[in-house]
Amino acid sequence: MSPVIPYAIYEQAADYVKSRISGVSPEIGIVCGSGLGTLADTLEGNIIKIKYEEIPGFMQSTAEGHLGQLVFGLLSGKQVVCMQGRLHCFEGYSIQQVTFPIRVFHLLGVKSLLATNAAGGINPNYEVGDVVLIADHLSLPGISGNTALVGPNAAEFGPRFPSISDLYTPRLRRIAAKAYLTNAYLREERKFRMHEGIYAWCYGPSYESRAELRALKTLGADIVGMSTIPEGIVAKHCGMEVLAISLVSNKCVSRREPDTIEVMAAELAGQPLDAVVEEFPNHEEVLLVAAARTADIQVLVKSIVHEM
Ligand code: 6GU
Repeated sequence: MSPVIPYAIYEQAADYVKSRISGVSPEIGIVCGSGLGTLADTLEGNIIKIKYEEIPGFMQSTAEGHLGQLVFGLLSGKQVVCMQGRLHCFEGYSIQQVTFPIRVFHLLGVKSLLATNAAGGINPNYEVGDVVLIADHLSLPGISGNTALVGPNAAEFGPRFPSISDLYTPRLRRIAAKAYLTNAYLREERKFRMHEGIYAWCYGPSYESRAELRALKTLGADIVGMSTIPEGIVAKHCGMEVLAISLVSNKCVSRREPDTIEVMAAELAGQPLDAVVEEFPNHEEVLLVAAARTADIQVLVKSIVHEM
């Protein structure tokens, strides 16, 4: 089990950040997902950027498509802080390290977390480029003991046994649904579709096997990804409202492979079966889809933040 990070280390990081932002007090924290970091470039007002490497206790972002800096500024007139570059467990970081920035946000006075990510679509009704409001999650690593809240409880942040039944704040999901439903430009011109669904968190960095995807589907997952859920749990633990938005970057292939014995028997009989073309996920494709939708997601996030 990974060692628990002492409270003083979070405070040290928050104090350092406070010393750099001179009185600015962000109310909303935004985590930019894979290929969605350009949202942080649209902030207005007095922009302050702090590289993760400058902040005591912060880890570095190593995944491609993640820059690794905090960006402070105004979005829709509200003071926000963006993580331009997220930390993931597959980079080798513990969940405590991955969620460290969220607790620092809390110490800076952040009240709401808005997390974005790119995810694989399991629900057959979802298309590449669709957006999914996370309504609930399946945390397979969490269920089996790998959660940020394991270890002595950091009572400064929250209770020993937090309920996470309403982790994805209904109030914020209603705001997001309304922002989408009342935006004819996004829906009609940009063919932007929004769903609400269940996100399954898998550790990565490998994508899921076919059998794992069939299992996730059976368990009720609509989308699958390698992030967000640890951040959400830690945010909820310290009393933040949470909204999480996934971009469907690829459709998951969960179909069983054709049976080799049958394929071979058909070949030997001189009547080969039709080959099925399948496309498997890759990170380049994920980044391309994110780049194509990033402006639309910015429009959506801006109108959500306006109402938060
Ligand atoms: Cl298919 N799986 C996971 N775990 N993460 C993803 C993904 C798939 N597509 C984008 N991110």
